[in-house]
Amino acid sequence: MLEETQAETPGVRRAVSALNRSGGWPQELIDYADGIRAMKALPPSDPLSLTYQAAIHGRNGEWAREHPDWDWCQHQSWFFLPWHRMYLLQFERIIGHLIHKPEWRLPYWDYTAVDEARWVLPTEFADPAADDNALWVDGRSSAPLPPDHRDPTTALEAPVFATEGAGFNFGSGMIAAPAQFGTAGETGALEGSPHNVIHMDVGGHMSDPTAAPLDPVFWLHHANVDRLWEVWLSQGEPRTNPTDASWLDTEFRFPDPSGDHVTWRVRDVLDTAALGYVYDDVAPPLTGVEDDRRGIAATVMTRQPQEPEVVGASDGPVSLEAGSSALIRMEEPRKRRGLHAGVGAEDAEDDVFLRVEGVQGTNVGVGVYGVYVGVPDGAAATAHPELKAGLLSTFGLEASSRGDGHGITQSFKITEIARALRAEGRWDPTALRVTFETETPGRALADGAENDVTAARVSVYYA
Ligand code: C2O
Repeated sequence: MLEETQAETPGVRRAVSALNRSGGWPQELIDYADGIRAMKALPPSDPLSLTYQAAIHGRNGEWAREHPDWDWCQHQSWFFLPWHRMYLLQFERIIGHLIHKPEWRLPYWDYTAVDEARWVLPTEFADPAADDNALWVDGRSSAPLPPDHRDPTTALEAPVFATEGAGFNFGSGMIAAPAQFGTAGETGALEGSPHNVIHMDVGGHMSDPTAAPLDPVFWLHHANVDRLWEVWLSQGEPRTNPTDASWLDTEFRFPDPSGDHVTWRVRDVLDTAALGYVYDDVAPPLTGVEDDRRGIAATVMTRQPQEPEVVGASDGPVSLEAGSSALIRMEEPRKRRGLHAGVGAEDAEDDVFLRVEGVQGTNVGVGVYGVYVGVPDGAAATAHPELKAGLLSTFGLEASSRGDGHGITQSFKITEIARALRAEGRWDPTALRVTFETETPGRALADGAENDVTAARVSVYYA
């Protein structure tokens, strides 16, 4: 069925920064640019064309699917990682087929490395002057990624792959059947950040799910996201893939270079070597600037998830403007846990989470929000980086808000912030203020339109 048979030894997907540049552009990127040019030269009706491939990710939305191959990207659910793995694999095969190098492997953008030089677009992608540079597209931001935007430490700490409902998970929430956007599932730690955040930070095509795959850097970003799945697993127990049949047996169909289609079940794509590729490095990046967080990662690593207990929520919807805030009234948890437990108590390691629920918007004027907790009255949140709970990106927000879409829901671990506040006598167990700031601007709004991003509720829970 597949045109090219797998090489016996899997090919290596390498960090883009590690490619050999002694003779100018690395061969892998010369090949990649040739492949992109070949995809662009095909008519849009050809399944191997770049336009068609981007439509597989998103075009009109699954509610208005024009073609059975289109509008399949999986977001906000535990299908996010396996679907994008399949999508990348087919793309890699298409490039290899078009340039007659089936051994070609997609490099990954290693912005997760501690070396700041990697936090900018790889130079070959950023040079509009290079003659007919197929790796360049207009409209991107050239700013380096801010340190916490590319930091995968929190995502790698997540103890479980998926949760049903609220929970600190790595691979996004459990849902019963495939869905593109606006699922009732929780956006997982990796999908939220760095994945969604980097889409908005790069901007241009990357900020729009119906155009993102037209930017050649999309595929290198997703290769890194796919690699981080392997990094997360490499940390070992309790980090494992789900064993639920409803995940393992779900299948997706993609056009293949053979002219036919290939159908993958999730269970078919869990071993990358069997699919013909491995990564050059799957060690957790817990060194250098992240050294001070090593201890935190180590304590969380052995914990099993617990049933979340909601202790408070905002009175109603919270509009997300730069500097907007809401007060969350909290009750004593029914179980003596987390911050309420005595030192040395068995449950002292319970975590506290802030959950931003059902974020929706039709005029989305912000790309990435910084989410802060416990900012003192009258103070600017941005003057308190130590109170930053995390990042909320609006990638896919319009699609998630459409019709009966549930918007975006995301949890932020605030255990360390709460402990630090408590140690300073500044933790109020009855009320917590949450504040939103703009970190990355959104796309330009239509004339006269104002940002209308709103969270249905913001809550606090222990788990
Ligand atoms: Cu389906 Cu990074 O997007």
